[in-house]
Amino acid sequence: MTNGRVAGKVALITGGARGMGESHARALVAEGANVVIADLLEDEGRALAAELGEGRALFVPLDVTDEESWNAAVAATVDAFGKLDVLINNAGIFTRGSVVDASVSDFRKTIDIDLTGVFIGMHAAAAALEASGNASVINISSIAGLVGFKNRAAYAAAKWGVQGLTKTSAMDLGPLGIRVNSIHPGSVRTPLTAGLKRGFGQIPLGRDADSAEISALVVYLASDESRFVTGAAIAIDGGETAGNNLREDA
Ligand SMILES: NC(=O)c1ccc[n+]([C@@H]2O[C@H](COP(=O)([O-])OP(=O)(O)OC[C@H]3O[C@@H](n4cnc5c(N)ncnc54)[C@H](O)[C@@H]3O)[C@@H](O)[C@H]2O)c1
Repeated sequence: MTNGRVAGKVALITGGARGMGESHARALVAEGANVVIADLLEDEGRALAAELGEGRALFVPLDVTDEESWNAAVAATVDAFGKLDVLINNAGIFTRGSVVDASVSDFRKTIDIDLTGVFIGMHAAAAALEASGNASVINISSIAGLVGFKNRAAYAAAKWGVQGLTKTSAMDLGPLGIRVNSIHPGSVRTPLTAGLKRGFGQIPLGRDADSAEISALVVYLASDESRFVTGAAIAIDGGETAGNNLREDA
């Protein structure tokens, strides 16, 4: 059931071809938005856009680390739909390793995609978002951007960087009519996490999440229901970062 909560809005979703990005695209279209699916994965992205419907969804190729690619994606969005109201910086990769065993090249690559990609996205889209007059940027961080994350030095550094960049950008862009928030999912079932072995003991709700549960928060932040929310870092993690859920009673 849908209520047109984002009717008439235009949203660009990076990493929109699969996983959580795909789920966000489906949820936003269901609530009345037009969406641009921007990803490296052309076949999956084009198929999803075709399924969501010509005139409602468009695929554009995007490498979030490349400024020219970003400029072209923003221009294609405005060409197709006349404006850009919502930017969802969702594309990301996940690399392993502590400061001892992660490689410097993996660290740089992770920062380039997961953090610099978010910076370039806001940089490239700022003028179009300002022209919207009522815009929302949703930066997808992680619980690794709220607490330490064992054996994920690069990922945690990038995701904490997204939180800091979000709060600073909320201050810089608020006067331009652009809200900027970060969301911090815990364990979500997607292709990214398909191979991971995880226990749920640290999660008070005792389970991982379906992507649709994260999309519900994305729709809220994209909609005018959240019009006084900016600069927030919102955990959506079944309580995983609420405290130590494993400590025994004394
Ligand atoms: N799955 C989880 O448990 C979880 C938890 C917290 C945060 N996250 C974050 O959520 C976001 C989405 O994750 P997911 O689980 O859906 O992953 P996913 O791997 O299923 O999807 C990520 C998408 O990003 C795209 N992408 C990667 N590099 C790109 C680039 N350079 N340019 C453009 N697109 C690129 C991929 O092609 C893919 O479509 C990521 O930022 C991830 O860090 C995931």
